[in-house]
Amino acid sequence: MDKFVITGGNRLTGEVSISGAKNAAIAIIPAVILSEGVCRIENVPNITDVTAITRMLYDLGAEIRSVNKSTLEIDPRPIRSYVASYELARHMRASYYLLGALLGRFSHAVVTMPGGCDFGVRPIDQHLKGFSALGASYKLESGMVDVYCDELVGNNIYMDVVTVGATVNTMLAAVRAKGTTVIENAAKEPHIVDLANFLNTMGADVRGAGTDVIKIKGVEHLHGCTYSIIPDQIEAGTYMAAAAATGGDVLVKNVIPKHLESISAKLEEMGVEVEEYDDAVRVRRTRPLNKCNIKTMPHPGFPTDMQPQIAVLLSIAKGTSIINEGIWDNRFRYVEELKRMGAQISVDGKVAVVEGVEHLTAAPVKATDLRAGAAMLIAAMCASGVSSVEDIQHIERGYEDVEGKFRALGADIRRVQEQEKPSVAQAV
Ligand code: EPZ
Repeated sequence: MDKFVITGGNRLTGEVSISGAKNAAIAIIPAVILSEGVCRIENVPNITDVTAITRMLYDLGAEIRSVNKSTLEIDPRPIRSYVASYELARHMRASYYLLGALLGRFSHAVVTMPGGCDFGVRPIDQHLKGFSALGASYKLESGMVDVYCDELVGNNIYMDVVTVGATVNTMLAAVRAKGTTVIENAAKEPHIVDLANFLNTMGADVRGAGTDVIKIKGVEHLHGCTYSIIPDQIEAGTYMAAAAATGGDVLVKNVIPKHLESISAKLEEMGVEVEEYDDAVRVRRTRPLNKCNIKTMPHPGFPTDMQPQIAVLLSIAKGTSIINEGIWDNRFRYVEELKRMGAQISVDGKVAVVEGVEHLTAAPVKATDLRAGAAMLIAAMCASGVSSVEDIQHIERGYEDVEGKFRALGADIRRVQEQEKPSVAQAV
């Protein structure tokens, strides 16, 4: 696997343009399965998670044309199978969106159980609760989820926890069900609203997305359409954090500032200047960072997917900060890597106590997952000396052209082919 070699100390300055939202794209692309016509999806991020989900549709029989690097035309009509490829699906958690989409179209879906993840157990009980409420039965055997029904019928569903995935999957199964479905305690993330807008562009009747009650009137047919995906809230937040960490001055373009409010608020609390424009934010830091406390929450709270990145800022802020991870059981695995760079962080379950230090120092570190990897890049950019970040395949799952975008801002970053590690036999 390749790695990034980064020489820290450069202030990031200039402009960066944000790509389409990963977590919207990997819900909208499976949703195309429900259409009876060709869908043209624009502002698709060029990232490996999108490549993977698109390949799964292709394997099911969809015809897919890459119009340009950020536009796909997908014709789902040739799809005949409701069984997703085990080999492809097992590598990617969001493959479980194929369950809702295939169930909605074929009244049957077979998809591999989603893998665990680097930050704890990732159950699907609420997804199954949604499907069951709509009249489906399911079997979990030999690592597969098999969901089937005679007919999907609308119903009321109260989610036990706020869950993006189960909200998405229930929406996908409900849009062509007979009758009305009401999802209560629904997730309100921007990508939920984006999916609802896409479904409605195909002719669905989804109301209330972005609130905790989503009402879906089932329709018989959904037609092809053209749709442009919203900008990525977390990619934007990552570049905002990087600008702040390096004491830089960056214009983050092609964003929806409202989606960034909780991130901007926390950066301002830390003494960072954030200026909002119609579709951009300018992030500048000219003085030392102040400590602050973070509690990750479902949207519109502070996003858990920004937790590792903000921890880097807190590790070089003045004073002691507390991070409460409110969503995942174990999303602090990156802390051990950050401590190799001199961060002073102690973790107890879902709480981390961060003692700010003067500065971080370079070290060889690993990307333990997607957002942790992005945090390691930020840490390396503000550390003194030359760091390496390994396992960058995690980062490329969700960040388009991360090397090019950071280099354009003045970061000293280069991708290096990771030499195959000699086996012990070879080494002796
Ligand atoms: C989505 O994951 C995102 N992934 C994650 O982003 C993000 O961290 C998460 O939402 C929270 O915002 C995608 O959108 C592809 P959840 P998801 O269902 O849907 C519990 C990234 O970095 N839960 O909202 O899997 C669960 O254990 C990724 O882009 C159940 O108990 O998350 C967790 O504690 C990482 N039962 C909480 O709900 C269920 O059936 C939120 O999970 C489902 C979830």
